[in-house]
Amino acid sequence: MNRRKFLKKSMAATTLALGSGMLSPACRKNLRSDLLSAQISGTHAIEKLSSDGYKILYYASCAPSGHNSQPWFVKINSPLDWVVGSDSTRWLTIVDPGNREVLLSLGAFVENLVQAAAAFGYDVETSILARSIHDPDVVGIQLKKINFRVNRLDRIMSRRTVKSHMLDKDLKGSDVDNFSNLSGGHLHYFPRDSEHSQLMAKEAVDNFVIQFENKQAIAEMADWTRLTDEKAVKFRDGLTPDGMEITGIAGWYVRNFLDKTDLLGDTYKNKGIEKIRQQVNQGGGWIAITSEGTGVKDLVESGRRFQRMALAAREKMIAIHPMTQTLEEQNGQKNIRENHHPTTIPQFMLRVGYLDRYPEPVSLRRPVEWFVRV
Ligand SMILES: Cc1cc2nc3c(=O)[nH]c(=O)nc-3n(C[C@H](O)[C@H](O)[C@H](O)COP(=O)(O)O)c2cc1C
Repeated sequence: MNRRKFLKKSMAATTLALGSGMLSPACRKNLRSDLLSAQISGTHAIEKLSSDGYKILYYASCAPSGHNSQPWFVKINSPLDWVVGSDSTRWLTIVDPGNREVLLSLGAFVENLVQAAAAFGYDVETSILARSIHDPDVVGIQLKKINFRVNRLDRIMSRRTVKSHMLDKDLKGSDVDNFSNLSGGHLHYFPRDSEHSQLMAKEAVDNFVIQFENKQAIAEMADWTRLTDEKAVKFRDGLTPDGMEITGIAGWYVRNFLDKTDLLGDTYKNKGIEKIRQQVNQGGGWIAITSEGTGVKDLVESGRRFQRMALAAREKMIAIHPMTQTLEEQNGQKNIRENHHPTTIPQFMLRVGYLDRYPEPVSLRRPVEWFVRV
């Protein structure tokens, strides 16, 4: 091993072992707030799109997506007639060959869009256009101006995926009831010490390990990882060290010294598994969001249910961490279904927990201009 390699390896072991939080996040600028505030204050020149329309799409794009792949495009037929589509160049063909997560993410985008439109005084009628899970045009959007506004843009802007510092405290009944109402009863909560919660934690770890042994799945994840700030700013999507909550010295090391091949190696794998093992036992238990079917409508609706709940959770200082590997692996799907209710289909497995402090969002988004098609 040459000297540079040796130094890199020993620094990797030390810094990754030190873990997150060694440097205050204040030492580093938040790329997301820099880029997004510049965007929303600017003017735009997209034909057929009004200034309100542009802003609505900007807020819609704050939606979560698997690997932060942002698998959406929006066709502007006329100022009030749009189509939300599925961008095949952004599909996760290895871990999500059935486009389940793509359609869930589009559902979350549509929910943000509908709630953002309400803030600008528009009612939205949605219709499912796609007949199959691979169709490009997925949801029709018709906007209608009304004399009524409900402004909940704050929570759209400040929601994020949170994986660390969850309190080991069960969710309150009133919060669970609220989430359940928002999801039309398609939500099941398992308190932290319940048998089912422990099963979900075990499945999350087991299937994470299975996925880490799958070289194609890891290569796909590596393709969506933006290690350096330069790459993050260039693509404005994917998984950044900040988004993966590799912060402080470890984050600095990963941003400056790791390259794509390191993501495929054993050090990264073992650290990842260790981190997941710690995470699954933290927090207030698990939530499953289910659907009755597996068609386009079921998946888009599940994504909307998830996002309604995630936005309400933001207001209640509740962290939501989707852990999807279980549902991406056949065995994991089967075990969760058999131990839950065989006739319902789990679409999200979410680790949840109260926070003392809700962190700022950090994951990047593509500008509206990049995903609009006129
Ligand atoms: C369908 C779906 C699946 C996801 N699966 C995972 C997952 O398995 N593990 C994880 O850490 N985050 C998962 N996430 C969260 C995304 O990584 C996250 O939404 C994305 O990086 C954008 O970050 P933000 O939610 O903070 O805006 C998932 C999100 C969605 C919508």
